[in-house]
Amino acid sequence: ISLKPYNTFGLDVNAKYFIDIENTNTLKDILKGNSSQKLFIMGGGSNMLLTKDIEKTVLKINLKGIKVINEDENHVWIEAQAGENWHEFVLWCIDNNYGGVENLSLIPGNVGTTPIQNIGAYGVEIKDVLDYCTAMNIANQDIVTFSNEDCQFGYRESIFKNAAKDQYIVLSVVFKLTKKEHVLKTGYGSIQEELDQQNITNPTIQDISKIVISIRQNKLPNPSEIGNSGSFFKNPIIDIEQFNTLQKKYPNIPHYTVNEQSVKIPAGWLIEQIGFKGYRLGDTGVHEKQALVLINYGNAKGHQIEKLAQIIQDQVKAIFGISITPEVNIF
Ligand code: EPU
Repeated sequence: ISLKPYNTFGLDVNAKYFIDIENTNTLKDILKGNSSQKLFIMGGGSNMLLTKDIEKTVLKINLKGIKVINEDENHVWIEAQAGENWHEFVLWCIDNNYGGVENLSLIPGNVGTTPIQNIGAYGVEIKDVLDYCTAMNIANQDIVTFSNEDCQFGYRESIFKNAAKDQYIVLSVVFKLTKKEHVLKTGYGSIQEELDQQNITNPTIQDISKIVISIRQNKLPNPSEIGNSGSFFKNPIIDIEQFNTLQKKYPNIPHYTVNEQSVKIPAGWLIEQIGFKGYRLGDTGVHEKQALVLINYGNAKGHQIEKLAQIIQDQVKAIFGISITPEVNIF
């Protein structure tokens, strides 16, 4: 079976077998009967670069359901199953006036993958709203709860990418959101600018969501039209001495302070500086409006995109002395 419809890069690789997982009992039975080496777990397929056929059984996690499980005066706890589409979940929250995820509007992928790489945008990360998640231990099929702290979140990092890598399948995520006293984050990027332009002085979560959607639509290619996986690289974090040296040479270098010793540099800027923004080679390329996004124009192969990524990494390293690493998982 071709996995082309199931990965946002639109890469046409084949899987040996493919099973839609619609409930946890089926998942349990399949995990019991198969060694984990023969299984390949798939969520929304929005953070993977498939470079060859998958000689395994793909389990597509399709668990569905969203429900309120607890409330207090100003908070609501919502449990969403792993197979729910992330953006549809965000829209459901916005419609119900539950605040906290509005800045994360229009991020591709499913709910179940959000804790794995601690998705983030416009000053908010999933770690700010996740109360806990549940996951099945692949080896013994136990269902385990991971508190926010257990998840060991970092910038695009969690325990699921490190100590617990390939050991769990996220089943559901419980979010703690606000009901009325929403805490809006408008400080990142051009959100405030947009609000000013539209003369919105008292923004609602609905306003923020709309603005984030329009910013993203302007800058990022729609995966249903052009294959891509969002940011291909993480923004590198460098030490302050290296930053100070770079800033002398490039006074306009954009940066975010991480702490007293380190600074985060937008990889998109580095890639643009070395001339790759809008670059195209065959059916692979770099998005013309956001150099952090690699693209499949149609019939690119995963290994060709991987090669382009390597060339970019090497040149950024040669010119700036900075190592950039993929955010996307390469298989
Ligand atoms: N920039 C350039 N050229 C480019 C792209 C960016 O010069 O081609 C510079 C600009 O100075 C811009 C700055 O980089 O002001 C930041 O750009 P942007 O706001 O687009 O954000 P980013 O740092 O490139 C990160 C996330 C995105 C997220 C945005 C907004 C990572 C790896 N990426 O990108 O996440 O949407 O911030 O919060 O942290 C994703 O993970 O798939 C993703 C899209």
